[in-house]
Amino acid sequence: MSSRNSPRIYIVNSHQEHREQLHKVLARLYNVISFEDNQSVIEAMRLKLPDLVIVDDRVLENGRGCLTDKRNDEALSGVPFIITGNSLPADVLGPDSASELDAYLSRPFSKNQLFTRIGDQLSRGTEQAWEQLPDLEKSALQRTVEDFLVLSDAIEAKEPLNISETSESCQPLVEAINNNRIQGVLDGVKGHHNYTYVHSLRVATYLSVFGHAIGMRDDELLTLSTGGLLHDVGKMVTPQDILNKPSKLEGDDWEIMKSHVDHTKDILDRTPDVNAGIVVIAMQHHEKLDGTGYPQGLAGKELSELARMAGIVDIFSALTDERAYKPAFPAEKAFAILADLGDKMDQKLIKVFRHTLETAHVYAHV
Ligand SMILES: [Fe+2]
Ligand SMILES: [Fe+2]
Repeated sequence: MSSRNSPRIYIVNSHQEHREQLHKVLARLYNVISFEDNQSVIEAMRLKLPDLVIVDDRVLENGRGCLTDKRNDEALSGVPFIITGNSLPADVLGPDSASELDAYLSRPFSKNQLFTRIGDQLSRGTEQAWEQLPDLEKSALQRTVEDFLVLSDAIEAKEPLNISETSESCQPLVEAINNNRIQGVLDGVKGHHNYTYVHSLRVATYLSVFGHAIGMRDDELLTLSTGGLLHDVGKMVTPQDILNKPSKLEGDDWEIMKSHVDHTKDILDRTPDVNAGIVVIAMQHHEKLDGTGYPQGLAGKELSELARMAGIVDIFSALTDERAYKPAFPAEKAFAILADLGDKMDQKLIKVFRHTLETAHVYAHV
């Protein structure tokens, strides 16, 4: 369910059925208000600015309408628009469209395409704020988010990933970790709406901090960062409906969620030069010491230290992440939940991780 803090999205669509369908799909995650015509949405925007407007090209009369109004009105011009339609963007947006940042989504579009585009548009402000960060934090965030776009394009085209490119994009993150400058990275990613990116970057960061604390350096840290960034790439194939479901996943939904590891395997199988550490992180982060994990049900000594670390960090990151339907849990609560998992997890390593965060001074504000 959307909460009071969920982003506010206005839908403008003169086609009643399409408008209602879109409203229904988005209302679970966002505060949505629907409008039939240009005038009413512009009036509503003047009363309360939304975070995003999704406008159908059928209401953009001759490429005009509310899009032109918002461009000409300074108070409204910063609101991102997504335009949905049948024609090519240039037909709708006019000759100046190349310089516009508004996004276009061709009908018919999938829910996944819709949610991805919404995430990109809602994140624009967060990404712009990175410009103000010191160089190291800025490049750690910018390089990884750029790489994430490259990864998602490659996955959609069913092409191999370029592992050395991803490793290179993680280099500033490793440097930030070497210099104990992770707080700016963790703070910077808050508010970004590509959840798989947010989660992956946080896992990459915590995993590398953990590795650094137990003596790993250089290439080993780069493997942890790269593995962290790639550990859930299979989720790019998982339907957004399932990824964003506010309730506990059961039955088929849970099977589909678990299959993200199989998708990751397919993606890594067609990718050359993936080192063993990355494979372990990606394939074993959901395994449990007592054999109740997935996909293989590995147990005890079958789980290397790296797999155990990845499992701890994955759960910790998920618990301390803010989602549309749940607040971020404080570290204290996350560690209490990890302790409750008892024999499923390596409790000794959990203590080391906890100590790591305390000494890195990030414990109080994960
Ligand atoms: Fe996962
Ligand atoms: Fe994960």
